[in-house]
Amino acid sequence: MTLSTQTPIADAWSAFDAAAARDGQARIVDQFAADPGRLARMTVEAAGLYLDLSKQSWTREAFGTCLDLARAADVEGRRSALFAGEAINGTEGRAVLHPALRAARGSNFHALGEAVSSEVDAVRADMAAYAEAVRAGTETGATGKAFTAIVHIGIGGSDLGPRVVWDALRPLAPAIDLRFVANIDPRDMAEALTGLDPETTLVIVVSKTFTTQETLANAEAARAWLASALPEDGQDRHFIGVTAAPDRAKAFGCARTFAFRDWVGGRYSLWSAVSLSCVIALGPDVFDGLLAGAAAMDDHFAEAPLDRNAPVLMALAQIWNVDGLGRPARTVAPYAHALRRLPAFLQQLEMESNGKRVHRDGSPVTRQTCPVVFGEPGTNGQHAFFQQIHQGPQVVPAEFVIVRATHEDAPESPLWSNALAQGQALMLGKTTEQAHAELIASGADTAEADRLASHKTFPGNRPSTAIVMERVTPETVGALLALYEHKTFVEGVIWDINSFDQWGVELGKVLAKAILKDVAAGGPSDALDPSTAGLLSRLI
Ligand code: F6P
Repeated sequence: MTLSTQTPIADAWSAFDAAAARDGQARIVDQFAADPGRLARMTVEAAGLYLDLSKQSWTREAFGTCLDLARAADVEGRRSALFAGEAINGTEGRAVLHPALRAARGSNFHALGEAVSSEVDAVRADMAAYAEAVRAGTETGATGKAFTAIVHIGIGGSDLGPRVVWDALRPLAPAIDLRFVANIDPRDMAEALTGLDPETTLVIVVSKTFTTQETLANAEAARAWLASALPEDGQDRHFIGVTAAPDRAKAFGCARTFAFRDWVGGRYSLWSAVSLSCVIALGPDVFDGLLAGAAAMDDHFAEAPLDRNAPVLMALAQIWNVDGLGRPARTVAPYAHALRRLPAFLQQLEMESNGKRVHRDGSPVTRQTCPVVFGEPGTNGQHAFFQQIHQGPQVVPAEFVIVRATHEDAPESPLWSNALAQGQALMLGKTTEQAHAELIASGADTAEADRLASHKTFPGNRPSTAIVMERVTPETVGALLALYEHKTFVEGVIWDINSFDQWGVELGKVLAKAILKDVAAGGPSDALDPSTAGLLSRLI
């Protein structure tokens, strides 16, 4: 026997590559007969969610090899470091402690050694008290009227999480009209304000840094809208800041702010005061349910062995597809109108976290990292891009989020039966012989069947994951979003990248400022490349 001179993680990647070369073409459907324990092995229940990864492209052996990779990457050790509040965001020297935000009251989390749970509990209590006062009409606007509408201003992580939550749970909030503004295009604000009365509208400006150009511009516009209609005295009651930089929010003019700390990443922040608008509109009890669902997923992630751990298995399926089988995209289809924003949320969560080209030590990655994530709710997506997923030459793994009863108590079988059918069609496909026979059976002559059979052939053997929940509740939504957060973290650990910074968005921000300077100066500066200078001259 020759002993490997590689590190354990390099050995694990070598074994992974060998498994991919050996098993990558195996037919998924055949694996059920080859391994009678497949369904039990590759399904897992966690925090009210049922996950089925048995339609993924792995054999039993490859599944084991992927688990070995997770072990070799020390997922368990890194997971402990996350929950212990160590500086796992190495480039910014920060802890990453969103689980502390949703832990039961009286917990004992530490960020870089500093106890944080009592502060978390205090902010949560402040939010609840403020929300109850707004809902009861005791916290009023400048003219003494109760608030009936909220305009939530924020972008990226200060927008997408609360939007998913609101869209998912809004039937639970009959009384308050909550609207979101993210885009710096004034049309977004104009549409959000349509029909609203400044006297009864609360504006909540959400920005972790309180420096984001889009958010500050929209906040100025909203303030002007309030100021044009309200007496000066009491205007500040309409204008609330949510931020990790309370001094900046104060300087901007927010008399009242709700704070969170720098160990809350923007795209992981929906569990904090960032969701104040939802806490008010949905009520603190609903928000508590969301937090409890996420905390249940935290407990599962922290305690379940790797081979029964939902976020770990989801992460491994993605890594197997991306790095083993060369599939650089994944589609997510929530089969529930309530979850229609999930793909947009996941785009930021996954692509901003794991769209990285260097390892934690700064050396270049030698493997692919985050795939392109895209999606639409089902069944809408079926009538748009699913053609490509069934018959395009690239294999695009699919993820179906399935809700048994999406509306009131009726099991929405037309909805979820479509999701099941898609997963089945992707896996089974249809051979040319089958297509030919069907054409003949439907009355085509042989020449016609010969001509059309290849067009009606489905290669099949295309992977999918199903995530099933009984209903869209605060708890299941919390668990689902936390599942994806931990999945993203595990992928980052295995790719050995920092999932918690986002330097890639900075360059564009800096250049946009420079272009605005050129606009103010009346034309392109000499420093601009000819293409950008031409575009600027056309637009100015
Ligand atoms: O530009 C990207 C980003 O920094 C995201 O990471 C963040 O969620 C978003 O902008 C908004 O930032 P902020 O909450 O500081 O306004």
